[in-house]
This record gives sequence, C-alpha cells and structure tokens, in this order.
Amino acid sequence: MLSGKRILLIIAGGIAAYKTLDLIRRLRERGAAVTPVMTRAAEQFVTPLSVSALCGQKVFRDLFDLTDEAEMGHIQLSRSADLVVVAPATANMMAKMAGGIADDLPSTLLLATDTPVLLAPAMNVRMWGHPATRRNVDTLRGDGIRLVGPNEGDMACGEYGPGRMAEVPEILDAIVDALADGPLAGRRIVVTSGPTHEPIDPVRYIANRSSGAQGTAIARALAALGAEVVFVTGPADVAPPDGVTVMRVETAQQMLAAVQAALPADAAVFAAAVADWRVANAAGQKMKKDGTGMLPTLEFAENPDILATVSQMAAGRPPLVVGFAAETEDVAAHATAKRARKGCDWIVANDVSPATGIMGGTENEVMLITAEGAETWPRLSKTEVAERLAARIAEALA
Ligand code: C5P
Repeated sequence: MLSGKRILLIIAGGIAAYKTLDLIRRLRERGAAVTPVMTRAAEQFVTPLSVSALCGQKVFRDLFDLTDEAEMGHIQLSRSADLVVVAPATANMMAKMAGGIADDLPSTLLLATDTPVLLAPAMNVRMWGHPATRRNVDTLRGDGIRLVGPNEGDMACGEYGPGRMAEVPEILDAIVDALADGPLAGRRIVVTSGPTHEPIDPVRYIANRSSGAQGTAIARALAALGAEVVFVTGPADVAPPDGVTVMRVETAQQMLAAVQAALPADAAVFAAAVADWRVANAAGQKMKKDGTGMLPTLEFAENPDILATVSQMAAGRPPLVVGFAAETEDVAAHATAKRARKGCDWIVANDVSPATGIMGGTENEVMLITAEGAETWPRLSKTEVAERLAARIAEALA
C-alpha cells in the first residue's frame, strides 16, 4: 500500500526516537522510500549511522551543508516527498511549527514544505497538557496538519498519562490514511466483518462459518479509494487489511458497542455474520459432566440487530447504511423485504445455497437492492464485488 511512496521523516529529540527506527523498517518493508532528517537533539537518542543504515540513504542534518544545497537544496528536499512525517514530534518542534520558526534544517523544511505533514507527538504528560502545547496543537490542526497519538500510558520519565508516542502500527495506519487520495478521501466508513462467537462457558462458544473474506475485501477496497475505514471484526479466518483501524470483538453485543463507539461516520457497511442469539445462561466456569447422565440445557436470548439499530438511529445515523442478506431462495423478494424491515439504504443480497459454493468460496454473485429496485451483478470474485460496491459508495457520497 505504500509502494513507491516517498516519506520525508523528521526525527526530533525525544526518547521515543528508538521506536522511529522500527518505523523506518516497517515503512521500507511496505515499499516506501524514507529520507531521514534529524535534529541535533535527536542525535542524543539515536545515531545518524543507525538511521541512515535503516533508510539506505544519508541523513540530512545541516541547513548550511553546501553539498546538500548543491545536490538538492532544502526547498526541494521539503517538496520531493509525498508526506512529511515528524516522529517523535517534541513540544519544542510543535511550538516552532505553530510559530513559523525556521532556525535549523528540520524546522525550515517544515515551513517550506507544501506536502501534507503528519506528527507523532511524544512528550512528558505535563508538557502535553500545558496551555502552550494545547494552543499549538489547535493551531497546527487548524493549519491542516495531522496528528497520530499521543497515547496514554507509562512514560520513560516515570510519570503516567497522555504523551507517549503512538505505536508503530498506529503510525503506519495514519501514514496510509494521510497518503490516501481518491474519491473517498476525508470520508469515514465503518465496516463490520466476520462471524461472532457467543460463549457457552469460558472455553466453548457458538459460531458460524463466515470467513470474513467479503467484509475484509470491502474494507480494503474502501481504504484504497481513500476512505478512513474503521473495521469492526469478529474472529475471522482472514487477516484485516492494512491501512484501516481495526476493532476486534467476539460477541454481537461487543460488536454493537464497537460500532457505536466508531460513529459518527459517512457510511456503514454491515458485512458481519452476526449470531442472532446468544446463550443466556452461559456458565462462568467450564461446564463439566457430572456422571449422572444429565445434559445441560442452553437457553437463548436474542442478540441486538446491529444493522437495524444503526439504520433506525434517531440522531447521528450514517447517511448511507448498507446491509447484507444471505438467502437460499427468492433472493430479490426476501432482500427487498429485509431492506424495508431493517431500515437500511442498500442491501447486498446473495444466494448462499450450498450448490452456489459462495459461503467460504472466493467468488460471489450478488444483487444490489436500493430504493430504485434490484440490480443483478454478474458472478465476480469477492475482490471485484468489493471494488464495485466501494465505487458505488463513492458515487453515492460524492
Ligand atoms: O437478518 P439477517 O441476519 O439476515 O440480516 C443480515 C444483515 O444484518 C447483515 O448485514 C448483518 O451484518 C446484519 N446483522 C446485524 N446484527 C444482527 C444480525 C444481522 O447487524 N444481530
């Protein structure tokens, strides 16, 4: 997803700079080229030698390094990237950026650049909470600069609170989001996927055969069009795509809570195979045979219908809500009725009779049911179905 992308990486002086070394490796694994720039203070935390070895190119450090000026010039350096990432972004660096100060190579690049900038702040909790930093964060956000983190947790200085630099996977996700362009850039879309697991006792559960393949493909296709995707997934067979925010859940109730926490959104696509019932009398301890031949009786309670709940929200309903309908007969009629019953905008309906080979397979043959009627799509790979659906969502949100 980052293949061919050029990142100008500015490393400022903070203990979190050690995580930046791993960030460089992960960026390069994904095909990005990383041009490193370090502040003088950063050199106290990681060595230019390590940074340049990991980047596979020299570290830029000095504004008045004539060789650099002759080769490239600091203005050009600032503009030759697709994205400028500052990790760690210290309180001092952010203050300089907010004030437009350019007194060394990194701050001059940041003032001269016309490419998007992403900051991964890292600082002591009191510095993060200081009114000056609060003002600077507001100013920077207002200037269109993106921030990832900081997170709350134990800090190297021994204190606890917000100020820890975001973890490398979070920074990678933010980089993918920041680089995404396409018709869905700036749109936030929630996608549910996979089965749910409903516990019987701490070691047993009721599940279904959903692999999560179609939901994962949809999340990937939406992200590829530039959407910020929140991917709420049950325990699926396939790994979540890169570049999406992943919320892992097990049960239907957890899935509903995660979806509600992920809103507001411009659209929601409910591709998960949610269990209709959960075990109402799930045991707190592992159930055991007691030797009497008595069999346990499971009692069921109805799970919340996530699609219907979100479709019928009085306030904050996503403008486009898409549900799925897996049917085994009369697909169009049943799916059209389901669309009305649940209150969603579109239904992607398919025939999952065993003969179709769709459940667990790589292909899908769907109908798109909208207010205008039913459209039959040809048999396509699940990836192609996802791409078509993502393109339709982009049209609808345009
Ligand atoms: O009613 P049925 O399960 O056939 O509806 C399928 C659609 O409803 C899918 O989009 C599925 O993700 C969603 N659903 C849900 N919560 C449930 C059951 C289904 O969101 N409890």
